[in-house]
Amino acid sequence: MTLTRRLCLIIVALAWALPAGAKPSRPVAEAGIATAHPLATQAGEEIMAAGGNAFDAAVAISAALAVVEPFASGLGGGAFWLLHEAKGGRQTFVDAREVAPGAATRDMYLDELGKPRPGATLDGALAAGIPGQPAGLAYLAKRYGRLPLKKSLAPAIRYAEDGVEVTRGMELGLRFRAGAARNSPALAALYLPGGKALVAGDVVRYPDLARTLRRIAADGRDGFYRGPVAEQLVDGVRAGGGIWTLDDLARYEVIERQPIRASYRGMTIVSAPPPSAGGIALANVFQILSGYELGRLAPADRKHLTIEAMRRAYRDRAIYLGDPAFVSMPLDRLLSPYYADGQRISILMDRATPSIQLSGILPEPVAGTNTTHFSVLDRAGNRVAGTLSINTWFGSAFMPPGTGVILNNEMDDFSIKTGVPNGFDLIGTDANSIAPGKRMLSSMSPTFLESDRGVAILGTPGGSRIISMVLLAALAWSDGADAAAMVALKRYHHQYFPDVVAYEDGAFTPDEKAALEAKGHKLEPSERSYGNMQVVTWDRATGRVAAASDPRGGGDVTIY
Ligand code: GLY
Repeated sequence: MTLTRRLCLIIVALAWALPAGAKPSRPVAEAGIATAHPLATQAGEEIMAAGGNAFDAAVAISAALAVVEPFASGLGGGAFWLLHEAKGGRQTFVDAREVAPGAATRDMYLDELGKPRPGATLDGALAAGIPGQPAGLAYLAKRYGRLPLKKSLAPAIRYAEDGVEVTRGMELGLRFRAGAARNSPALAALYLPGGKALVAGDVVRYPDLARTLRRIAADGRDGFYRGPVAEQLVDGVRAGGGIWTLDDLARYEVIERQPIRASYRGMTIVSAPPPSAGGIALANVFQILSGYELGRLAPADRKHLTIEAMRRAYRDRAIYLGDPAFVSMPLDRLLSPYYADGQRISILMDRATPSIQLSGILPEPVAGTNTTHFSVLDRAGNRVAGTLSINTWFGSAFMPPGTGVILNNEMDDFSIKTGVPNGFDLIGTDANSIAPGKRMLSSMSPTFLESDRGVAILGTPGGSRIISMVLLAALAWSDGADAAAMVALKRYHHQYFPDVVAYEDGAFTPDEKAALEAKGHKLEPSERSYGNMQVVTWDRATGRVAAASDPRGGGDVTIY
């Protein structure tokens, strides 16, 4: 019998053993799933109950999320899946990130005076990169799954045909994006019937999306990247002012990469390699923090050092990182402990380092976030951490007619001009400039933590803040926090520029705030809480499996 409960559910599992790192696994007795929506969790459970492994569940969950959380991820976007195969302990990273269309140019979002055209990277068909998620689903199913796509896509197709209730989160997202959505008749017909935005409790049916999913179920990646769906996508994009071609779609390729590995006080962190900045930034922060006895310091000093490490890691993100196929990055240096030693010398215990004093780039003055994450562990010990995105709420707010697919606005993750902040206030250089076929730099950081304690599978949406959220959760796990505590943790964030520490209410005590301000940190309360972390953990000593979904979201977990 299976159990599904909201928020956190912990059950004592009769686990035998699970590996740390690349050591082979033996089966665990129970499986765990945490996702951002109860129906996505149910889809994963249904597919595992039908004989699928964690990878089949990842396909089912990713496709279900495209239907039940279409404002956050979907067939029109991209995805990163971090995988651990129980048999042999192999770990790999499946990169289904979007790429720039073949006709994209470096300055395509600038006007004749070299100024960014407002909204051009965010709204409408020109903002969309070539999607990777459909190719990723087909790839995962073929290479790693046990079940045919037809089976793992069935729950998503059913949800799309039966209809899904609008959640409160979707209602808020719709309010935020209604203006842009009005310019896309297909999107407006779904979400703004009669010109009025749907509200929580309304039911939306997605017949076009169900048809597109059925084509993928029948024909694999060709069901999306060639044939009638590809033609509808390209016709719709071009009519909407975009530049996609059929060739762009046909050429899209999923890439498997080596994950980035780092260690911190007996814990191994396995996370996303470029074109995500996540793994490199996390590794750098942990290298810097390894030089301190954080446990012996006052909480304000611990937080000060963590903020200073974030500042330096995000600086390097801005300057060096991009798509490895297009830029040569000094990864050996960035990952070297000697580099961290040098960075540590520049950190003062009593004073914040103004970001402007770090050599680098300066931002030009400028402007939500959406993405989703899920974590899965199956009874054999296979694991998936998947982070999927169409970038901001409802992506580009553009749907090519007849497809049911909301296109991403991931082109905004490129640096359209050195120093010009993107939608997440991130700046960059030529390393992340636009080029045809190039993957835009991401912050998505699906991550495994491994130690003598056991394993944690985690990740979250949140744009530029993903990396700092994963970092804080990893530090907490290293200090003994459980899954529920990791997702509930109050968060703070520094990303080099803007030179402020954004924080959630409760992240700092009044004394800590005073101490950090005395060191020169500019503290800025976040307008609202942020993130929607999903964690599954396995504890080696007790054999317990736990799963937790961020209390800030409406997610759900299951253990069975
Ligand atoms: N679209 C958000 C990211 O990839 O970082």
